[in-house]
Amino acid sequence: MSFTVAIDGPAAAGKGTISREVAAHFGFAHLDTGLLYRATGRRTLDGTDPVEAARTLTPEDLEADDLRTPDVAQAASRVAAVPEVRAALVDFQRAFAMRAGGAVLDGRDIGTVICPDAQVKLYVTASDDIRADRRHKELTGKGMEISLEQVLEDLRQRDARDSAREAAPLKPAEDAVLLDTSEMSIDEAVASAIATIDSVR
Ligand code: C5P
Repeated sequence: MSFTVAIDGPAAAGKGTISREVAAHFGFAHLDTGLLYRATGRRTLDGTDPVEAARTLTPEDLEADDLRTPDVAQAASRVAAVPEVRAALVDFQRAFAMRAGGAVLDGRDIGTVICPDAQVKLYVTASDDIRADRRHKELTGKGMEISLEQVLEDLRQRDARDSAREAAPLKPAEDAVLLDTSEMSIDEAVASAIATIDSVR
């Protein structure tokens, strides 16, 4: 039987780290669904039509090494507002969620749209300042030159677009467990997520 953990929330709240560690702990497969939108957005930077880009996405597109840049993140959130782009990516995500042995999917609409029947739904948040600070450290740690103010501005713009769009907007599922990681270490946030999953397994 499949067991699905849906982890949603705004940018840089800690979803990625929590998802990876939770998947490793339980031996579940993990899909970072943001990568699908990043890879689609990246392909539109050279003028490819967004819907065409989503429909013809290849495994190689998901492995491009510049998917984490702020430009690609912004392109991702623009294409993510297009209903036909989202529709083109649904089947792949649902098939991943149903694989035997359990799966963790993280994104914006996993608990609300992609896997409304997920056994566990977490909505991970943190304050804007803390999210910006974490993302700034991550980007500058990779050698990128970008100010904290710019990172904060990028996150706010993306969250506003992701929350305001009509197609699968960013919001907690009604039955999601909220996890605010503002005052938590990574280990504490992961432990809390594991405890929530253990309580329903
Ligand atoms: O999670 P990440 O920051 O990599 O996602 C990049 C963008 O992809 C988000 O800002 C959002 O617009 C979009 N996205 C989405 N639905 C998902 C995952 C990501 O709309 N399930």
